Amino acid sequence: MTGSDSSMIPFMAEIVASTPLSADTSLFRLRLDQGIADYLPGQFFQLSVPAGGEFPVSPASAADGGGELEFCVRRVGQVTSHLHSLGPGGRVGLRGPFGNGFPVAEMAGAQILLLAGGLGIAPLRSLLHYILREPERYASVTLMYGAREPAAMLFRDELVALARQERFRLLLTVDFVRDEPVDGRVCTVGLLPALLRGVKVEPAATWAAICGPPPLYACLVAELASLGFADERIFISLERRMKCGVGHCCHCALGQLLCCSDGPVFRYSAIKGITGAI
Ligand SMILES: Cc1cc2nc3c(=O)[nH]c(=O)nc-3n(C[C@H](O)[C@H](O)[C@H](O)COP(=O)(O)OP(=O)(O)OC[C@H]3O[C@@H](n4cnc5c(N)ncnc54)[C@H](O)[C@@H]3O)c2cc1C
Ligand code: FES
Repeated sequence: MTGSDSSMIPFMAEIVASTPLSADTSLFRLRLDQGIADYLPGQFFQLSVPAGGEFPVSPASAADGGGELEFCVRRVGQVTSHLHSLGPGGRVGLRGPFGNGFPVAEMAGAQILLLAGGLGIAPLRSLLHYILREPERYASVTLMYGAREPAAMLFRDELVALARQERFRLLLTVDFVRDEPVDGRVCTVGLLPALLRGVKVEPAATWAAICGPPPLYACLVAELASLGFADERIFISLERRMKCGVGHCCHCALGQLLCCSDGPVFRYSAIKGITGAI
């Protein structure tokens, strides 16, 4: 973002829209008071709510040269509940962008395989929007997205509409269904690693990007390895508890690495040997 050179001073922004996506998750569209929202997919901001505190969150949108950006936020605790209590016109602060983001320049020209579980769709939606802005720069993009159940699937209609594009393949799956019907043409019932097992890819010509709940990571990495993916071709977005967001406090340590400044996106080969990394 532009307008300040201190990483600890928030930019002020206004909520221009908040759209419920599921029972506990909403999409917040923010407009900066001044400056341009410039960031890479996979980077994150520290979002503060007056008298509520601050939390790390990755944009769900791709920077478009304007002053607006979107965050998909699940209500889990104190600060995220504060944010959810605000409607349009509500004021928030933003510090950032922080971290590295996905290596979009390196990914150009190749096939892209996005693997999202649950709320992990948020930063991968940012990457997807980024790629689909200039799809001719990539050989193809496949998004495999698993949610707990149909009601918890975020951005479903938007993704199905985007999947009409030639270079974009969408595979959706849910862990289970209750009473709601599932259209088997666009969504299967089963776990994401099992869906991945059956997919046709060219591992040597593909970059894989994973974001989701931590228990999913080891299973997806194992499936990718059995499909023939080298560790270097797998990118994982990790979440750790963060405070400063800029490499000062060590709250987010991951062995010798810091999730906030060395990540949050890591090549699997860089974190493979670190206990508790995934
Ligand atoms: C790089 C990064 C990107 C993130 N992107 C998003 C996003 O796009 N959307 C979103 O909704 N959330 C995202 N998060 C998680 C978000 O930061 C936490 O949900 C938030 O800090 C919770 O704050 P709280 O005060 O509401 O909850 P708290 O009261 O602090 O905690 C409530 C519950 O959430 C868990 N929790 C808190 N912080 C984290 C965390 N960092 N990672 C995992 N679990 C946590 C706690 O263990 C506890 O069970 C991201 C986190 C990181 C590090
Ligand atoms: S959050 Fe402070 S060092 Fe990473």
